Amino acid sequence: MPTTVPPIPQERLPALLAAMPKAELHIHIEGSLEPELIFQLAQRNGVAIPYASVEELRRAYAFTNLQSFLDIYYAGASVLLQAQDFYDMAWAYLQRAAADHVVRAEIFFDPQTHTARGVAMETVVEGLSRACRDAKALGVDAELILCFLRHLSEEEAFETLEQALPFRDRFIGVGLDSSEVGHPPEKFARVFDACRRHGLHLVAHAGEEGPPAYVWSALDVLKVERIDHGVQSPKDPALMKRLAQDRIPLTVCPLSNLKLCVFPSLELHNLRVLLDAGLAATVNSDDPAYFGGYMNENFLQTFAATGLDAQHAYRLARNSFEGSFAEPAARRRYIEQLDAAFASA
Ligand code: HPA
Ligand code: ZN
Repeated sequence: MPTTVPPIPQERLPALLAAMPKAELHIHIEGSLEPELIFQLAQRNGVAIPYASVEELRRAYAFTNLQSFLDIYYAGASVLLQAQDFYDMAWAYLQRAAADHVVRAEIFFDPQTHTARGVAMETVVEGLSRACRDAKALGVDAELILCFLRHLSEEEAFETLEQALPFRDRFIGVGLDSSEVGHPPEKFARVFDACRRHGLHLVAHAGEEGPPAYVWSALDVLKVERIDHGVQSPKDPALMKRLAQDRIPLTVCPLSNLKLCVFPSLELHNLRVLLDAGLAATVNSDDPAYFGGYMNENFLQTFAATGLDAQHAYRLARNSFEGSFAEPAARRRYIEQLDAAFASA
């Protein structure tokens, strides 16, 4: 591993950020549904949506916090009915990911958003997993992570796990998303215990809007391997020490944090603080159709706003591979590709 990255002139940094291979570890596939595809699927499936045009829908994407986004995000997902709809959504994302030199994508999906509308688990998993398989042709290794909606009950999470187990080979892990405050990780302690016994990888959203205590309980009660977001962690120095010591990956989503008003501006984002404290932070897009940018846009805008340099870029991309659930041989291959990109920059 090159411990130091050769000095790279600031004007060459944007091209390097765009071209370097990277892993995306925090993308909700329903959050990649662009307004154009929402309208196309609404028409194809005869679903009514309360917006007259793509422009009117896009104008509604002015969020004040996580909940104001989730309300529109769940409404947008109501156009997804057939396996082909899920395939088309995932395929559109995977093409965007490939264009941004994402070579590994670990994709969240929210089955409860669909099963609650009468769509079968099999329909969801079939469409998404077929797109992931086909992504090999794009040069993207794609895997699925099933997320439980934390505003729903433990019992409903257990039912969802039962429905998903016949497709156990189509997803590599489970996560926890949706409304954070008031729904601490420990609400799902027994569900995550069961998932661990099934050999699933474990991750959870924590410390997006919620307090550092939620990051602690995601680690110590749910025993997750990664924290999604985690940007509230600097409020607790002991937590920062724990995250650094155990090299817990944090899947940070800068444009999401900006659009959901977690930070007042990108200039004031704490990504540099996390990296300087030795945390294994990564950059991700979260819900790119809603937050104004896919992977490279997140890198480019964040670096431009905060003045991060090539050393940080290397660290972020490397953290993404080391924090991924890829096989060790694949991880080594990705890191070799990363080193080659920096050697020729
Ligand atoms: N936070 C919580 N739940 C979500 C998000 C998020 O950023 N995106 C989609 N579901
Ligand atoms: Zn998220």
